[in-house]
Amino acid sequence: MMQSAIASKYIELLKTSLLNELYAENEARILHTFITRLNGGAVNFNDYFNIAQSKPELMAALRDAKSAGNTITLLQKMPDGSSRQAHELRNLIELSHSMIGRKRLDNLQQCIETVLAENIPGDFIETGIWRGGACIFMRGVLAAYEVTDRTIWAADSFEGVPPPTWPQDAGFDISRDVLPVLAVPVEEVQQLFRRYGLLDDQVKFLKGWFKDSLPVAPIERLAILRLDGDLYESTMTALQPLYDKVSTGGFVIVDDYGSCPPCKRAIDDFRAERGITEALQVIDQQSVFWRKR
Ligand SMILES: C[S@@+](CC[C@H](N)C(=O)[O-])C[C@H]1O[C@@H](n2cnc3c(N)ncnc32)[C@H](O)[C@@H]1O
Repeated sequence: MMQSAIASKYIELLKTSLLNELYAENEARILHTFITRLNGGAVNFNDYFNIAQSKPELMAALRDAKSAGNTITLLQKMPDGSSRQAHELRNLIELSHSMIGRKRLDNLQQCIETVLAENIPGDFIETGIWRGGACIFMRGVLAAYEVTDRTIWAADSFEGVPPPTWPQDAGFDISRDVLPVLAVPVEEVQQLFRRYGLLDDQVKFLKGWFKDSLPVAPIERLAILRLDGDLYESTMTALQPLYDKVSTGGFVIVDDYGSCPPCKRAIDDFRAERGITEALQVIDQQSVFWRKR
């Protein structure tokens, strides 16, 4: 693997772009406008233009959210003086191309670089791609290192998370009706890849529910399996057909281990069933990974 200064700079630029860090002030301006309007105020133009000076706490919150891959929700003051979180506005204010945050992008980069340096065979897959940011990143890192013999598999319903039908997911409904922001059409995702100049034959889209698409996917071997489907069902129906395809020395990354209890349960059940004892390594408050030995 050739590591050059320009490759490192390109990878860093990809991260700042995917996380919308480059234009963080504009994101803060949008949030500020929503917060102000939500609470019946008028936007002051001086505050708006000089957002970094006028709203440093908002800029700091945005920075923290982008580092940790957290979601910002807006607070609305209620007539009785209390505040409520306006969760539904998540659909309007979630603006990055990936929601996984910088620590998890750093982890993904480390996993890819290890796989390349140690010649661990196999492709890379993410199950649950949303706008496609993490897959765009994986494709970009391969481009930076001029790797042409590995494929990025991008698996998603492109219709959001399924409604909870498995008992282990009961009460955990983040399907399209509840969180439409998670349903991104495949054409939109492909258009985003194109904008980054990274849509080519090394990217393959697997459209459909994981239970249908993954058992028949023409994947031979994987070096990176990145799970990001939130539910028990979505985690289990990805692991079952794919885990045995992960090479020794390959990585299994679990985005939702700390944020979605059904996902944690699926991982704990699968690891127990299969007698997997490799330690779970913490990436940030939400995510973990292990390396297959
Ligand atoms: C949290 S988002 C993924 C975020 C993404 N990894 C990123 O980089 O921002 C979860 C995604 O998983 C998909 N998904 C969840 N369960 C699924 C299933 N069983 N089959 C297909 N897609 C699923 C949803 O459509 C959604 O796009």
